[in-house]
Amino acid sequence: MEEFHKVRRLPPYVFEQVNRLKASARAGGADIIDLGMGNPDLPTPKAIVDKLCEVVQDPRTHRYSSSKGIPGLRRAQAAYYARRFGVKLNPETQVVATLGSKEGFANMAQAITAPGDVILCPNPTYPIHAFGFLMAGGVIRSMSVEPDESFFPPLERAVRHSIPKPLALILNYPSNPTAYVATLDFYKDVIAFAKKHDIIVLSDLAYSEIYFNDAPPPSVLEVPGAMDVTVEFTSMSKTFSMPGWRMGFAVGNERLISALTRVKSYLDYGAFTPIQVAATHALNGDGSDIAEVRNVYKRRRDVMVESFGKAGFEVPPPAATMFAWAKIPEKFRHLGSLEFSKLLVEKADVAVAPGVGFGEQGDDYVRLALVENEHRIRQAARNIKKFLSTADDTMHNVISLNTRR
Ligand SMILES: Cc1ncc(COP(=O)(O)O)c(C=O)c1O
Repeated sequence: MEEFHKVRRLPPYVFEQVNRLKASARAGGADIIDLGMGNPDLPTPKAIVDKLCEVVQDPRTHRYSSSKGIPGLRRAQAAYYARRFGVKLNPETQVVATLGSKEGFANMAQAITAPGDVILCPNPTYPIHAFGFLMAGGVIRSMSVEPDESFFPPLERAVRHSIPKPLALILNYPSNPTAYVATLDFYKDVIAFAKKHDIIVLSDLAYSEIYFNDAPPPSVLEVPGAMDVTVEFTSMSKTFSMPGWRMGFAVGNERLISALTRVKSYLDYGAFTPIQVAATHALNGDGSDIAEVRNVYKRRRDVMVESFGKAGFEVPPPAATMFAWAKIPEKFRHLGSLEFSKLLVEKADVAVAPGVGFGEQGDDYVRLALVENEHRIRQAARNIKKFLSTADDTMHNVISLNTRR
């Protein structure tokens, strides 16, 4: 039987292939160190869990909640933007709560896309950026990811040659998977371009608080006038280690926020009220929980960069996010990222995310998530060292002769 039209547009998840191998290795007793999925392993801070437990006792919270988010939650998000970015938001018209930023992003695509609309999307990138729009009937034109002057020539070509003219441009800095961070100057240039060509800007700022140097990532909404064309998505998943809670936000341009709010009002009743109240409590906190999360990821990053480097697998230190984006060691690069990732599971008991899962431009890379503790990251490095040092002798059919040392 033929696949349904929408399902045909969704290729089997590349990560699923590595996951299957991982599961069968584990079933065979292997201790797989999982740096594959970006699924935060840290517990949600106790005060947030306590708030949920307290509120859930009140039966009034068991009813349908508010699709756009309870007023206190939207006010707390507006206060966060004012405090952190100096951006003033009207919680009534410029903020909507979402069931995680992924849901918000996908439903924004549903809300604004007409069949055949052209969307400018980074490659490589987090899959929903492209597939949210593909599911909504849009067409993707790939853009480069480096947030520097090399970003603009392809953008200009896209505007010149796309028919119809592009509807929207997607930004994601700090970037998953590359960990690139954008400056405010870069955003200024992007907004000037978008306004000139009447293009909507959708910014995914899921990693706003996971950064490792003294320069916190800016919001594109800090650019004067950005509000005219921009919506930005943030997430509680990484900032407060709440991935399973499904809580995020879209903020920005009123017309776009209103479109998303309308679509959502037909689809959901909002997150469970105790979750919304606990999220409000988290956002109104003093920030110490966030600092702790940041420190844990930073220590893991340092351990990974050092131990993997010593093992012969160079990992550039990411300035932000919970990921490192590492080029596949040269002698394995010809295999492509999926085959290399499978090898790492089979021969080194380490799972990583193949770069091709984020787009064809990612195929020389793998993404390493900082979701195992320091001890296990060191163990992963030892396993990889052993694998790399024995590969020449044991993998005649995999490593071509001319790439051997
Ligand atoms: C760039 C990016 N955006 C969005 C998400 C999804 O976040 P949420 O849990 O808020 O849906 C992720 C999760 O990994 C991500 O990396």
